[in-house]
Amino acid sequence: MSVLPQPPFLPLIPAVFLLLLLTIVCNFISRRRGFPKNDNRQLPPGSMGWPYIGETLSLYTQNPNNFFSKRQKRYGKIFKSHILGCPCVMISSPEVAKTVLVTRSHLFKPTYPTSKEMMIGPEAVFFHQGSYHSHLKKLIQSSFLPSAIKGSVPKIESIVLDLLPAWEHSKVINTLHEMKKYSYQVAILSVFGKKLDVDEMEGVKHLYQCIEKGYNSMPLDLPGTPFNKAMKARKLLNEKLRKMIEKRRDSGQHGRGLLGVLLGLKENDQLTDSQIADNIIGVIFAAHDTTASVLTWLLKYLHDNPHLLDAVKIEQEKVRCKRLEMDRGITWEDTRSMPLTTRVFQETLRTASILSFTFREAVEDVEIEGYRIPCGWKVLPLFRTLHYCADFFQNPEKFDPSRFEVAPRANTYMPFGNGVHSCPGSELAKVETLILIHHLTTSYKWDVVGESNGIQYGPFPVPKQGLPIKLHRISEI
Ligand code: HEM
Repeated sequence: MSVLPQPPFLPLIPAVFLLLLLTIVCNFISRRRGFPKNDNRQLPPGSMGWPYIGETLSLYTQNPNNFFSKRQKRYGKIFKSHILGCPCVMISSPEVAKTVLVTRSHLFKPTYPTSKEMMIGPEAVFFHQGSYHSHLKKLIQSSFLPSAIKGSVPKIESIVLDLLPAWEHSKVINTLHEMKKYSYQVAILSVFGKKLDVDEMEGVKHLYQCIEKGYNSMPLDLPGTPFNKAMKARKLLNEKLRKMIEKRRDSGQHGRGLLGVLLGLKENDQLTDSQIADNIIGVIFAAHDTTASVLTWLLKYLHDNPHLLDAVKIEQEKVRCKRLEMDRGITWEDTRSMPLTTRVFQETLRTASILSFTFREAVEDVEIEGYRIPCGWKVLPLFRTLHYCADFFQNPEKFDPSRFEVAPRANTYMPFGNGVHSCPGSELAKVETLILIHHLTTSYKWDVVGESNGIQYGPFPVPKQGLPIKLHRISEI
């Protein structure tokens, strides 16, 4: 035992040490979260809401448009918030959205909840940046260029001609469900380059429906939950795809469609089976619900605007007369001579804005317009808010395809996103819409059954109850 007297401050040492440690830890955390010491640059204006829950309740208990527009009015076109446990910056300035998505996109990585990544497959294009992303993106894009999808027009038309009689003979159809059947079949065709046989098609579809339910549910991996069932379905779908891949590899014929492109790579560029499977599943996922929701809105807008529907019919009737004269089906060139129907499609994308916004995450501290966006914060370009801004789209609430007679101002119209992660499927979505509308408007008329207003989310906004309609053949009226 020491005979030396103990200094009087000795009992304080553990407290000081603890304080010091705390300061270091806090400093480390705040640096990781993007709060460097002495950084006087301002965060964007806005409210972070309540501790922990932030403004999540506010966003999810009101129409999201109101949430965004209220804050935009109060704080301007860049404002901060706190949603689902994450600090974030919301953006409704075209120039800043371009910075995030295009010019400085390397500073903003795509970000998704882990549960969604597990469900789609972690090696799918959506979740990546850099060389793996650009390699994959080129391959996917090449499969959906006009030159690649031109040849599919007769096959897409035959899908339409198979579906329409079934719709006609049903008492009432749920438009969204039927459009999902259509867009699913078109997606399968583009991915596999051919129709699958009935058993294969139904097997894959059943697994897909399971995955879709789980994707939009709470990520609770307990026996019996939709999430758990979806994860099991995802495993089975993987096995099915691996068998298809093996069959094509063994036959030495890679086949057509996106799968053919992904299998046909030279030795140094080759993808693993799981990379191929994740991307096939991902593309079908991205192609299917999106297009179906847009088509459902398009039928509603045409129904609600009878003068416009008449004008579309006149345009389509001309194409039909030409087809009948030449005794042929619809061609790619026909779809390029439908300017009004194309504008209806563009206006539907604007008005419905089914992807209201997208998520990115700052990979380091970034300064934009004098504001500091700390590393790790989410950044949300607000597509819908831009599409409804009266400065760029006069009278934005009105469904008015004529506004697209003049191209919109740059970076104000982004239904397919912008920059490195923009949608590679925009041409396919357009052509499948035009082919369906051609046959629907020249041979049928539809009435909406029941209440025609109201919106539901599943997960995209769609007309209430999926827009129940009754289809009549025009000759029978
Ligand atoms: C009208 C229907 C569609 C709409 C509104 C739509 C919208 C979008 C948007 C906004 C993005 C960008 C998301 C972001 O930046 O975070 C995107 C990405 C994507 N879309 Fe579409 N899409 C549609 C149809 C399709 C189709 C038919 C395909 C099939 C090829 C497809 C495949 C993809 C893929 C693979 C990506 C990810 C691209 C990447 O991360 O680089 N989409 N889509």
